[in-house]
Amino acid sequence: MAFFDNDLDFNIEKEGRAEALFKVTGRGKYSSEYKTENVTYAVIVGSTVASGKITGIDTADAMLADGVLGILTHTDKPTVPGLASEQKIKESKIGLPVLHTDTIYFKGQPVAVVIAKTLEEAQYAASLVKTSYQQTRANVDFKNTHPSIPLKNEGKERGNTENWNSSPFNVEQEYHIEGEVHHPMEMHATIAIWNGNDKLKLYDKNQGVNGVQNTVGKLFDLQPKNIEVITEFMGGGFGSGLRVWPNTVLAIMAAKKINKPVKLMLTRTQMSCLVGYRPESWQKIKLGADASGKFTGLIHDSKNTTSLYENFLENITRISRLAYGFENLKTQMATVPLNMSTPTWMRGPGECTGAFALESAIDELCFKMNKDPLAIRLQNLSDVKDPETGKDWSTNFVRECMEKGAAKIGWNQRDMKPRQKKEGDWLVGYGMGVGMWTAGGGQASAGLTMDVDGNVTVKTAMTDIGTGTGTSMRNIVHEVTGIPLNKIKIDLGKSTLPQAPSQGGSRGLSSISASSNAIAETLKSNLINYASKTNPEFKNLKSSDITLTDSAVQIKNKSTSVSFQKIFTDNQLTVIEVEETTQPGDLQKKFAFASGAAHFCRVKVHELTGKVKIDRFVSVVDGGKIVSEKPAKNQVIGAVVGGTGMALMEEMTIDKRIGALVADDLAGYHFSVNADVPIIEVDFINKPDFNLNASGAKGLGEVGIIGSAAAIANAIFNATGKRFRNLPITPDKIL
Ligand code: MOS
Repeated sequence: MAFFDNDLDFNIEKEGRAEALFKVTGRGKYSSEYKTENVTYAVIVGSTVASGKITGIDTADAMLADGVLGILTHTDKPTVPGLASEQKIKESKIGLPVLHTDTIYFKGQPVAVVIAKTLEEAQYAASLVKTSYQQTRANVDFKNTHPSIPLKNEGKERGNTENWNSSPFNVEQEYHIEGEVHHPMEMHATIAIWNGNDKLKLYDKNQGVNGVQNTVGKLFDLQPKNIEVITEFMGGGFGSGLRVWPNTVLAIMAAKKINKPVKLMLTRTQMSCLVGYRPESWQKIKLGADASGKFTGLIHDSKNTTSLYENFLENITRISRLAYGFENLKTQMATVPLNMSTPTWMRGPGECTGAFALESAIDELCFKMNKDPLAIRLQNLSDVKDPETGKDWSTNFVRECMEKGAAKIGWNQRDMKPRQKKEGDWLVGYGMGVGMWTAGGGQASAGLTMDVDGNVTVKTAMTDIGTGTGTSMRNIVHEVTGIPLNKIKIDLGKSTLPQAPSQGGSRGLSSISASSNAIAETLKSNLINYASKTNPEFKNLKSSDITLTDSAVQIKNKSTSVSFQKIFTDNQLTVIEVEETTQPGDLQKKFAFASGAAHFCRVKVHELTGKVKIDRFVSVVDGGKIVSEKPAKNQVIGAVVGGTGMALMEEMTIDKRIGALVADDLAGYHFSVNADVPIIEVDFINKPDFNLNASGAKGLGEVGIIGSAAAIANAIFNATGKRFRNLPITPDKIL
């Protein structure tokens, strides 16, 4: 079903979200909400220890409980229902070979799945599964483990990397950021429905249905085309939906085992350890500048948590290769394997962590030099050429972002010396941080159908993870063709629709906007051909010569038109169908591409309680052309809210004695709520980058968070004179 029913009378403004009414009225279906006949329920039993071997699983009592239909454990190996060979599991890059080992790598690791007629019966029976372990000492201690792990050079060294040290001014500091959990509102969930032995349908929460199709195909030895994956709506992802996780695999296995549809939804606690997290990290920055304020050199080192079964290297130092023109640069990274599940990408992955250290160090260096951190950043930007590749930036408006943001927040009111401003018991300070993210786009397809009444449906397999993909596709088709917005429907998030990449890495819109543009152009040229049969005036027209109304094709600036009715009759059409695939063009090789952002904030710090209030937050973003302003703003606001959580409260609290996450629910894991953030003021440069794609959109999901935590930490320094290099900056640290 397309997003919109014909009978639904909704307020259709270009600024609005196409799917808004569906979301707020509960009509939009999330993965666990699809009605499925004969559906049964599965519950995951997690390991109670963080390290060791399973020595026994007793499922006898659980099997006897009411409603229980089946239980799966690793003892079902190698005949775990439907699951392909060990080799296929490897090829699928699933990471954790779920239920395929008796080794325990982390606490909460699935050791069994219980299937019952109702959710309550499955939950109760799961509590009756008795597992014994031979426990070994778990290591979850990042801070004490990382010093023994050597760094590895990543990327090309530039110039004399020890230059920072011989410079008139320098900073050498270490930074630590706690792990963070995505915790999207919607829990990860799957409904798995087998049709015979070779066809599978999944309602599954993820950020890319075609990706899930391929991974599941490899895992279960199925043809991807025989796997249908549906993700029409998503209650947030932030990166947690970019892989296939154990819940999806277990739902498929369970459905196979009992030969009935199975629904499996993670609990909030399971969300903390089964769908990735932003890894805990350590960084060291060595940064120098000459007397004029020019950066002379940088060494940026980082280490991050990974699991014992998979290496997840977060590209933390990449930001240092991107934003400023360091002629002398060395970046080194390493991973620290612990008894934890594998971390994954989380909003602005890598850059967001790296920018905290880099932008904090720059602020600290500026303080030593007694120079304005805005001026020093502007002086050192590399906004003409990409310092890494030497290619010209296609477009780069980071400078403009900084200038616009500084004016908006009133940067000139910032005192160079800290602790100069006070309002009652509150110390007041200003801070800034810069973010950049490489822009790009992949091959993507979009389709369009049009009926005789001029109703259009725009289609793609790409999921809309809340970013407004559908709205933007609709807006592009409207802008190119003239078709009224209320005649354009959207159908997306299904693997049977034209293939598209996952939505992630700020590459969703920059990929699908090109295909959206292409289907709109093709529709127009097809209509010119059709209309010219009826009216010779249409012969040899270019697509830019015509526009569409709600009922006809019209030559621009003329009254000449042919109705859709006539076109359909004369050409014996029942429906017009268009599909286009676009890929990165040659210009993508010639230029370098990046989105950018400048974040400014004004904070108040309460001296007696250590409370930090973000008083104002201004973000100016260069994301190329802004296709849909409201969803674009929402993206930046959401990202900044993530940055405030990172700066002030988010933290995976781990009990090192038992290897367990303590803050494993929303009472214990704190993130920013409305009361914690001010109205976030977002502004755009809004200049298209047509070298990247025909729409000119560069993508902006990530840059909203990159540099935002540093802006807050720098503002706290300006307010208090205290420098915080470990996140989150909780009140106890401030006092
Ligand atoms: Mo995001 S980390 O690109 O979902």
